[in-house]
Amino acid sequence: MQTLSIHYKQFNHYSELPESDQSMVNQAYEIAKNAYAPYSKFHVGAAVLLENGEIVLGSNQENIAFPSGLCAERVALFHCGAMHPTTKVVKIVIVAKGDLVPMDKILSPCGGCRQVMLETEVRQSAPYEVILVSQNGQTIVFNSASDLLPFGF
Ligand code: THU
Repeated sequence: MQTLSIHYKQFNHYSELPESDQSMVNQAYEIAKNAYAPYSKFHVGAAVLLENGEIVLGSNQENIAFPSGLCAERVALFHCGAMHPTTKVVKIVIVAKGDLVPMDKILSPCGGCRQVMLETEVRQSAPYEVILVSQNGQTIVFNSASDLLPFGF
């Protein structure tokens, strides 16, 4: 039998993170306001830090033809791929606001987003930090997107 263990850091509130990370969380909350989520009423924001210091933001964009919508993480990461294809991602912060999830539940990216997050790492041959924040500020920090998708495709 093999065992898989994942290491992550947990904080009661994102105010315990370094200031630059706190700023990314605040930017992610701010961009979540631009979510187009009339169907789920669930607003998600993502902030991606690139190695050149630029921060790329994304929010979920839904559509009446349901499968056509896209999650916040993918909006942000695909923008990075389109506009900065050779610039490495250093970290991503993901936050959510909405009635779907209890205040203290850490937003956990969907399977599709995990695959995209993982492939971004594979593509750049370097891991990046993933910071997930609940509506009341509880925070988990992973060292690598692969921590969220062991045995990824
Ligand atoms: N959503 C995200 O943007 N990111 C996630 O990690 C989970 C879900 C969006 C998709 C949809 O617009 C809404 O949240 C409800 O699922």
